[in-house]
Amino acid sequence: MTNSQFSLDGKIALIVGGGRGIGAGIAMSLAKAGADVLIADFDADLAGGTAAEIEKLGRRSAAITVDVRDPASVQAMIATVERDFGKLDIAVNNAGIVSLGSVAELTVQQWDDLMTINLRGVFLCCQAELALMRKGGSGRIINTSSIAGKIGFPDLAHYTASKFGVIGFTNAFAKEVAREGITVNALCPGIVGTGMWRGDTGLSGRWAQDGESEEQSWERHQSALLPQGEAQTPEDMGQLAVFLASAPHVTGQAMAVDGGFSL
Ligand SMILES: NC(=O)c1ccc[n+]([C@@H]2O[C@H](COP(=O)([O-])OP(=O)(O)OC[C@H]3O[C@@H](n4cnc5c(N)ncnc54)[C@H](O)[C@@H]3O)[C@@H](O)[C@H]2O)c1
Repeated sequence: MTNSQFSLDGKIALIVGGGRGIGAGIAMSLAKAGADVLIADFDADLAGGTAAEIEKLGRRSAAITVDVRDPASVQAMIATVERDFGKLDIAVNNAGIVSLGSVAELTVQQWDDLMTINLRGVFLCCQAELALMRKGGSGRIINTSSIAGKIGFPDLAHYTASKFGVIGFTNAFAKEVAREGITVNALCPGIVGTGMWRGDTGLSGRWAQDGESEEQSWERHQSALLPQGEAQTPEDMGQLAVFLASAPHVTGQAMAVDGGFSL
């Protein structure tokens, strides 16, 4: 039995970029609220791992390999959902990457790589998901943006632009489908200790000061940036995703889970 206010019993959810990190946390939260949750990811092993965890909760799942850069791959993902599960109630478009570089140093390749996954990927997924949701007459779409979708960060101008883009796209798209029972919202994580932040190749490792360990840099960034002083978790993102997957009259919004950082 799930919390009746937020019950997702009988719903089919798709998490794109659900193999690890925030996407995996959202997947588990939606499953705990009652949904069957399908995991799509570029990395087949990661997708399979999260799908197995969903099944351990007694929900149906599937691992789908997708590259959000590729329209044909995104279409094939939605065709698989329709063929094997018959409908799509909830879609979370969460695949994203980060890289670092000042505007003076950024390469066109860096810009294009990041935009193609973070922004074009969201468009391609939304377009394909819409076609299936329209057949069912309702839907909930959640696009992962960031606090960098509300405030600029140095050395992340391209990432910031992609995440501002996700919010603008989300608001416009929400208005297009507002009378069709389909809501579209953006979720803006603050700082979450996933592969994007942790380790020597994550942001805290690359932003470590001289003599500072990766762990110390991670602690410093949480404390310096976040009013509450501590990082958010994938489960925190799952909590908002369950709410957005339930609420019929919240649409076009960009909602942050960031410990008080942004407006
Ligand atoms: N971690 C944070 O602090 C933070 C903060 C704000 C926003 N975000 C956003 O949250 C989302 C998830 O980030 P995360 O921190 O969990 O990172 P992560 O790197 O742990 O997870 C990203 C997932 O996306 C998948 N992916 C990457 N490229 C893909 C592609 N082309 N096609 C399909 N899947 C692909 C990866 O395989 C991975 O499973 C991203 O959109 C990120 O920008 C993260």
